[in-house]
Amino acid sequence: MLNLKTGLFLSAALFASTSFADAQQTELAQVSDGFNAETTYMASCFACHSSGAAGAPKVGPGNADAWTARLEKGMDQVVTNAIAGINNMPPKGLCFTCNDDDIKALVEYMVDSSN
Ligand code: HEC
Repeated sequence: MLNLKTGLFLSAALFASTSFADAQQTELAQVSDGFNAETTYMASCFACHSSGAAGAPKVGPGNADAWTARLEKGMDQVVTNAIAGINNMPPKGLCFTCNDDDIKALVEYMVDSSN
């Protein structure tokens, strides 16, 4: 009896954690409703990244080198740093409505715009 109960509890817990992971995966795989990389970049990132203020890597044609050097640590790490913040780069670039995928899309937009 005890074993049956434990077994039921364990499979319930296992099922719960699996579906939680699935839900998170789905959520992580998409940007926010109505998200637009260019508009959000202009609103949240342009102030520092167009001018290179405080040592921010510049965005725009001719700035590929600034990004090549940063991408050497891997796109995932660059996105992680943008989410968590690094030195004078504030967490999520102060875009409080951005989810992690929005930030990833913004970083891709910034890198693509700098070729
Ligand atoms: C207040 C100024 C400021 C704002 C606003 C800002 N950044 Fe930054 N960002 C910086 C600075 C400064 C660095 C350089 C940090 C360093 O490596 O020392 C940086 C670096 C980065 C990097 C490179 C990280 C790495 O690993 O090398 C990315 C990506 C980035 N910012 C993305 C963004 C995005 C996306 C936004 C808008 C949502 C944003 N930033 C808004 C100042 C800013």
